[in-house]
Amino acid sequence: MAHDKPISRAVIKRLPRYYRFLGELLKSDIVRISSRELSARMGLTASQIRQDLNCFGGFGQQGYGYNIQELHEEIGHILGLDQRMDAILIGAGNLGRAVANHMDFDNRGFRLSAIFDENPQLIGQRIKNIPIEHTDKMESFCKIHHPMVAILCIPKTATKAISDRLIALGVKGFWNFSHYDLLNQHSGIIVENVHMSDSLMTLSYEIKELLKEES
Ligand code: NAI
Repeated sequence: MAHDKPISRAVIKRLPRYYRFLGELLKSDIVRISSRELSARMGLTASQIRQDLNCFGGFGQQGYGYNIQELHEEIGHILGLDQRMDAILIGAGNLGRAVANHMDFDNRGFRLSAIFDENPQLIGQRIKNIPIEHTDKMESFCKIHHPMVAILCIPKTATKAISDRLIALGVKGFWNFSHYDLLNQHSGIIVENVHMSDSLMTLSYEIKELLKEES
């Protein structure tokens, strides 16, 4: 389905969730679903769902609902999950290992093609059968393979220098777990900063509010 108009960031942020829910529904025998049923499952309003999906030229038919497989495929396509962009991971410590081992890159539009670390003791060890290479090799690797994305699992203090090097090597996107906020300092570079603690603090606030209501 064609969608020429730019899609708002708020809608884009909801798409992975639609994709996940529809993926779960696909495992059942249900073929189609109404916006009302989908909204009940997802905790959104039916009109929000209709509005979101209308951004892409309108799925579903009045009184028929959405074909789950079609919608799942189309949202995956919009998110670019059917591409295979090369990604490299920097920092093979606790977090880097967890991300490399547990993230299903292949079904999320990426291929994890190399892992780098500065610690000589880690060089040559393998994670998911990918050898850890020294960051000295980053330049030569990038000149040959042109990875589009870098996943940063390094300390905050190392992030600026490493990201500057990677940008000079043509990396366009960062999945940044380090607590250094890489924010729009370079045009043409896309950054997703991930802070699990933000989610934890949101939970803290919501529990505080809940307890206030109950007292
Ligand atoms: P770690 O100490 O186990 O691993 C860090 C790795 O980075 C080490 O292997 C180290 O040799 C490597 N490294 C350091 N400087 C480097 C450089 N200049 N180039 C290449 N490799 C370098 O630490 P851990 O637990 O894996 O955490 C990594 C970072 O992620 C920390 O800064 C931590 O605060 C942050 N973190 C962020 C989370 C989030 O939600 N965003 C959650 C947990 C940790």
